[in-house]
Amino acid sequence: MPDTSPDLFGAPDLPTLAREVEGCTRCPLHAPATQVVFGEGPAAARVMIVGEQPGDREDIAGRPFVGPAGQLFDEVAQAAGLDRGDCYVTNAVKHFKFVQKGKRRIHQKPATSEVNACNWWLGQELRAVDPALVVAMGATALHALTGKGAGLLKRRGGVERTKDGRPVLVTVHPSYLLRLPDPEARARETEAFRRDLARIPDLL
Ligand code: URA
Repeated sequence: MPDTSPDLFGAPDLPTLAREVEGCTRCPLHAPATQVVFGEGPAAARVMIVGEQPGDREDIAGRPFVGPAGQLFDEVAQAAGLDRGDCYVTNAVKHFKFVQKGKRRIHQKPATSEVNACNWWLGQELRAVDPALVVAMGATALHALTGKGAGLLKRRGGVERTKDGRPVLVTVHPSYLLRLPDPEARARETEAFRRDLARIPDLL
């Protein structure tokens, strides 16, 4: 969708964006979702953390990363010496995409068209917060930020650039860790995730 929104006054402030995003119809995901889940955190955060999209719990709470993936992120961030309260935390896509199976709502990966439609909001958040470092957690965030999501595991640990030239630390999504069936592999990968997050102060 072409960007036809007026942009006469420079970077908008986060409360204005949070109000405007509530009426977003840029892609079809707004219809079945309970509500939009915008980013949260200090407007002057130096670190912006970007995930994929809200999950079931986030869709109900209206806040990013409050479900199982968020709890794991909080634990690992704390172990890495990163205070989530100092970070601006958001997602590439602001509505939960799911299929209903009985009473359960099963997460669906967002389509490229949905990521692209929501990219306008992510761009506005980047301009409003103006972080020194962006952290891409997973392939969807990496795609939204850099324009290319393929090859995540080869790129993880690297520092790339957003489409508007900001440094992006590439790492895995906490849901990837939760899905690993082998406890040893999960422990190893969780430690690698901790090491990625522990590099943040050196990259600022
Ligand atoms: N997964 C995400 O990518 N974001 C959330 O907010 C929750 C789970």
